[in-house]
Amino acid sequence: MKTLPRLLACAALAACAAKADKFDGLALTPPMGWNTWNTFAGNCSESLVRDTADAMVANGMRDAGYTYIVIDDCWSMKERDKDGSLVADPAKFPSGMKALGDYLHSKGFKFGMYGCAGKTTCGGYPGGRGHEFQDARQYASWGVDYFKYDWCDHGTANGPESYRIMSDAIRAAGRPIVFSLCEWGQNQPWLWAEPVGHLWRTTGDIGASYAGGAKNKWEHGWKQLLDMNVGLEKYAGPGHWNDPDMLEVGNKGLTLAESRAHFSFWCMLAAPLIAGNDVRQMAPEVRAILTNKDVIAIDQDPLGHEGFRFRVDKDKEIWAKELSNKEWAVCVLNTGAAPAQLTLDMHDLTFLTEQYYDVTDVWAAKRAGGANDPHTAMVDAHDVMLFRLKPGS
Ligand code: GLA
Repeated sequence: MKTLPRLLACAALAACAAKADKFDGLALTPPMGWNTWNTFAGNCSESLVRDTADAMVANGMRDAGYTYIVIDDCWSMKERDKDGSLVADPAKFPSGMKALGDYLHSKGFKFGMYGCAGKTTCGGYPGGRGHEFQDARQYASWGVDYFKYDWCDHGTANGPESYRIMSDAIRAAGRPIVFSLCEWGQNQPWLWAEPVGHLWRTTGDIGASYAGGAKNKWEHGWKQLLDMNVGLEKYAGPGHWNDPDMLEVGNKGLTLAESRAHFSFWCMLAAPLIAGNDVRQMAPEVRAILTNKDVIAIDQDPLGHEGFRFRVDKDKEIWAKELSNKEWAVCVLNTGAAPAQLTLDMHDLTFLTEQYYDVTDVWAAKRAGGANDPHTAMVDAHDVMLFRLKPGS
């Protein structure tokens, strides 16, 4: 192509702005971990992070795969130092970030941190704009393994360009770091961010509710976020994931059934599983949801296909996710406000290719019969039936 037409075509295509070269192979399955924000907001601290890490060893979360512990907004001082470097707030993090990272690594975790592509973070702390390479070197020197980059106060900055610069800065700093884009889907990152980062938020923030509207317009219920991700499934795959935001499992505002369904759907979406509850004092039923290895296996399936919405009926939705070895996960949601008897007739699942499947009820952890039998159960409001189908004979 001649130069001018090529330039014009590039100007029209945001993808051309994204020639970044992220570290490959870091997130072949969706990242799993824990983040300070959903429960503690600005009250992150070294003691909270250490106690959480210790709790995640004791309660089995680390061994279930939750390895990234991420410090979100409000960790720094309000001003950079005289050299322009970010400084951890010594009142919150008296031992400093390097020591905290060392502690997390010594316990078998990976260390995640937060910054913002704008001039200030959403909490009003210094943003990364204009300091990208300096900041990336600093994160690398602290042993950071995962970096979430927000989008507040970005002014007139260009989205793809801002994230590409930070991706380049991480590459230049030389430490393999999972790059988590958090521009809320505003610039359709699924179209350009695959070479830039490993996961990208597709929406605004989650709140602890099913249908949203609880606190403010900016916070969504998980069912709203689920709906907003319809159609994006084709953009996700090993190393590049749609991120419908962190988990609210176990947080006040969700019934246990809603937490179970929320977790089921994040696994159906091959979403990053970043817990956001206080895991130091979690009810056993909540722990059982977060550490259910058969449900997590649906999320972490190596094929890396995101699930899709197959059918919407009155008070019922059916979602499906293709797994490796021709297996499938099928999730049926009661969208009604009352318990209801739901039926899944496998004959309706026109995407199935094999003659016969063995069917497991995943939450009940028991065989649910063969594919030729309809599966009927009483399902609570906003709860699910979750099945795994394996080709059989
Ligand atoms: C934005 C992000 C959230 C969280 C807050 C912190 O709202 O989307 O996930 O990081 O900022 O201020």
